[in-house]
Amino acid sequence: MSASSEKSLSALLDERRTFPPSEDFRRRAGANDPGIYDRALQDPEAFWSSEAKKLDWFTPWQKVLEWNVPWAKWFVGGKLNITYNCVDRHARSARRNKAAIIWEGEPGDSRVLTYGMLEREVNRLANALRSLGVAKGDRVAIYMGMVPELVIAMLGCAKIGAPHSIVFGGFSAEALRERINDAKAKVVVTCDGAWRRGSVVPLKASVDEALRGTPTIQNVIVVRRIGDAAKAAMQAGRDAWWHDVTGAASDKCAAEPMDAEDMLFVLYTSGTTGKPKGIVHTSGGYLVGVSTTHRYVFDIKEEDVYWCTADIGWVTGHSYIVYGPLANGATSVMYEGTPDYPDRDRFWSVIDKYGVNIFYTAPTAIRTFMRWGTELPARHSLSSLRLLGTVGEPINPEAWIWYNDYIGHRRCPIVDTWWQTETGMILISPLPGLTATKPGSATRPLPGIVAEVVDAKGDAVGPGAGGYLVLKRPWPAMMRTIYGDPDRYVQQYWSRYPGIYFTGDGCKVDKDGYFWLLGRVDDVMNVAGHRISTYEVESALVDHSSVAEAAVIGRTHEVKGQGISAFVTLKEGVAADDGLKNELKQHVVGKIGAIARPDDIFFVSELPKTRSAKIMRRLLRDIAEGRILGDTTTLADPAVVARLKTQYQEEG
Ligand code: PRX
Repeated sequence: MSASSEKSLSALLDERRTFPPSEDFRRRAGANDPGIYDRALQDPEAFWSSEAKKLDWFTPWQKVLEWNVPWAKWFVGGKLNITYNCVDRHARSARRNKAAIIWEGEPGDSRVLTYGMLEREVNRLANALRSLGVAKGDRVAIYMGMVPELVIAMLGCAKIGAPHSIVFGGFSAEALRERINDAKAKVVVTCDGAWRRGSVVPLKASVDEALRGTPTIQNVIVVRRIGDAAKAAMQAGRDAWWHDVTGAASDKCAAEPMDAEDMLFVLYTSGTTGKPKGIVHTSGGYLVGVSTTHRYVFDIKEEDVYWCTADIGWVTGHSYIVYGPLANGATSVMYEGTPDYPDRDRFWSVIDKYGVNIFYTAPTAIRTFMRWGTELPARHSLSSLRLLGTVGEPINPEAWIWYNDYIGHRRCPIVDTWWQTETGMILISPLPGLTATKPGSATRPLPGIVAEVVDAKGDAVGPGAGGYLVLKRPWPAMMRTIYGDPDRYVQQYWSRYPGIYFTGDGCKVDKDGYFWLLGRVDDVMNVAGHRISTYEVESALVDHSSVAEAAVIGRTHEVKGQGISAFVTLKEGVAADDGLKNELKQHVVGKIGAIARPDDIFFVSELPKTRSAKIMRRLLRDIAEGRILGDTTTLADPAVVARLKTQYQEEG
């Protein structure tokens, strides 16, 4: 852990302010009996089983959990269909005409889909997929902007048992190709383009480029979001317009009965190598996990309007825009644009426009709003809000307090929710009617979750001591494997401490048992809430013909949490200049996407390495953050570091 994070940590653990829920909130909360923790701890299987009964099953399970470390099966023998649970059953109830999705598009556009409408649209797409030969088990890649058809596509896949693999629309063609090939997808669903701050992102053109090297893809379905301005080229025999294929399809479709352990989706995330991992989630346990946590953590009520601002291309959108809320029959707001377009108070006007009651966003967004000033939220009433949430990275107490004061008007509990793509569902978070929160702490593991902070040997550390966050019991929405690479699953998550899940996060627990997350302990960066591996960016850099070697680190960044710094050595005879810096940044964008664009690139004559030739990232981080040099005794040539430091200070 770095010196500065140690310092801010002791400040954190001194954080004495606590914020208990108001008596009124507590009384009305769905979870307001503290006994829930003990009950779940005593008999977790009984706890999860009683939650699972809130879903509709075609065939009941015979066994709640089969646990052959590290292979879990939940609700063994049970059969259900995710879309039936998220849509059909509501469409056949009093919720038929309730808004399922309220979509706020780029200025001027909006659309509401009731559960009844959603059922028909989903069925049409499901039938269209079937008519293209997509059958249970076939993978469908989805590469779209935040439009309602994205949700329809997910639910259409789930209806016929075809696992989806959503690739964030900000990823490059090359990143898309890699993910399509790893999942061996049969069909891609995309849009002609996406709107971003008034301009067009040509998604279909990226798909065309990706598809030059994807042998498994047979068809592409294209949503006409932009129209002529997108200039999407359609390849006869391969590409079809969404409105054509769904227009011709029936709006009735029987739900495919799925085994609880059948795959629901694969979602790629960054690990500690250059190759993204396909995280596999299955049907039964995942839906039980996300519906239960959505209900308790967000205290969802029948009449609530709930808004999670994530992109569905990430796990937060999967679990808490789509599957969790819809399983609970909630109204979920979906927003297409950015927080600053057309104005920097866009989020606050959307909250007032729809009377949003529950708002869930990322600390990086909150820090951005802080910079923009309090006048912007002050122009709006925000009086509908009753609960706030954060996710994706540690929230600094200043941002927490700002969120509480200027958005929640000190009236709304804040749930800081810790989880991962791999965990599928929230694992550490306050229960808003029960937990007194402390700014900066995700508080306690949820009922049924056993988390601990351990040292390198796996022994629990005492209050206030830093260590690694691990999970000691399985939970329903846990990943089941890495797609096509079960060995990596075992190696990555279950080998450091046999039988115990290693999260990759550093953490401390205070004397009250509150968890304080400290960020990743591996080579994964968290840039504006996006997870990026240092190796991915390094591979993209060395792929450029001018680059000899590259070392990439995440450095502290005031707004984004972490920024990306790259130290690069060039090949003989290549001139180091700003033009090349920009070219390299662009090269990374082309290989991965704009989220991985390095904030700064430093040309150096050599990189600091240990005697066994390992690049010393810790030292580079210290240099990038302007700290005193760490221990350099293992360095092959300590002078390299001193030179780098001088140069960085000059350039930085
Ligand atoms: O480091 C933790 C951080 O985000 C990582 C997981 O990233 P990803 O799989 O992309 O999922 C993000 C959304 C669930 C974790 O290993 N992280 C996530 N939530 C928090 C957090 N760190 C601190 N506090 C959180 N609330």
